[in-house]
Amino acid sequence: MSETKNRERLELQDRLKQKAASYAVDFVQSGMVLGLGTGSTTRFALENIGLRIKNGQLQDIVGIPSSLQTEKIAKDVGIPLTSFDEHQEIDLTIDGADEVDPQLNLIKGGGGALLREKILAQSSRRNIIIVDENKLSPRLGTHFSLPLEVIPFAWKPEANYVSSLGADVTLRKSNEGNPYTTDQNNFILDCKFGPISDLNRLASKLSQRAGIVEHGLFLGLATEVIVATENGIRHLKRKGI
Ligand code: A5P
Repeated sequence: MSETKNRERLELQDRLKQKAASYAVDFVQSGMVLGLGTGSTTRFALENIGLRIKNGQLQDIVGIPSSLQTEKIAKDVGIPLTSFDEHQEIDLTIDGADEVDPQLNLIKGGGGALLREKILAQSSRRNIIIVDENKLSPRLGTHFSLPLEVIPFAWKPEANYVSSLGADVTLRKSNEGNPYTTDQNNFILDCKFGPISDLNRLASKLSQRAGIVEHGLFLGLATEVIVATENGIRHLKRKGI
């Protein structure tokens, strides 16, 4: 792809992310405790919330950030922050995803924040996921590797274990070539499974390992997914919602 075509593609993707973010922020109401996700799509939502707080459209909002990166952005755009010490229930979480299947199951963790993101999702009454249409997939694992947060002490045996389940495993590296570390000082293994046929079985195999702190399969956690497409917004809701 030429440089110009690639730039145009990224600009279009950003416009779609922005649209999904703005649509989701319309569901934020004054007085809410928000879960603040992580990533480039969520960043647009944070900026949008910040603007609505500044112009008085939203009042008494507090947010729990899912990463140090989000904490910084939230402070920069003027979203007051809180923590689980003060609020254990979140009204609404807005977050991105790396891959979304037709049942609204997700792969998350491309930005390395999957552990805190999952804690927010499990503590939220409503979880709105915002994506551009490129994130939709017939089956999780088709497009994206599954991130696992592992403790550094155990990364090699855990990598061997995940390989034995059929994945091609890579230790995530920082730009400087060192192991990437999460906000909890753990490592990330990116595990290429290809299309995953039994999500629950894989999730339980990963959860039973002591060295795997958390995996990026978010099963049954998204209540809604907002998909921005070139033809408009699709608002998908989990069955029974
Ligand atoms: C962060 O760890 C991830 O779960 C992100 O939410 C996910 O990678 C989506 O990020 P983008 O919005 O940047 O694609």
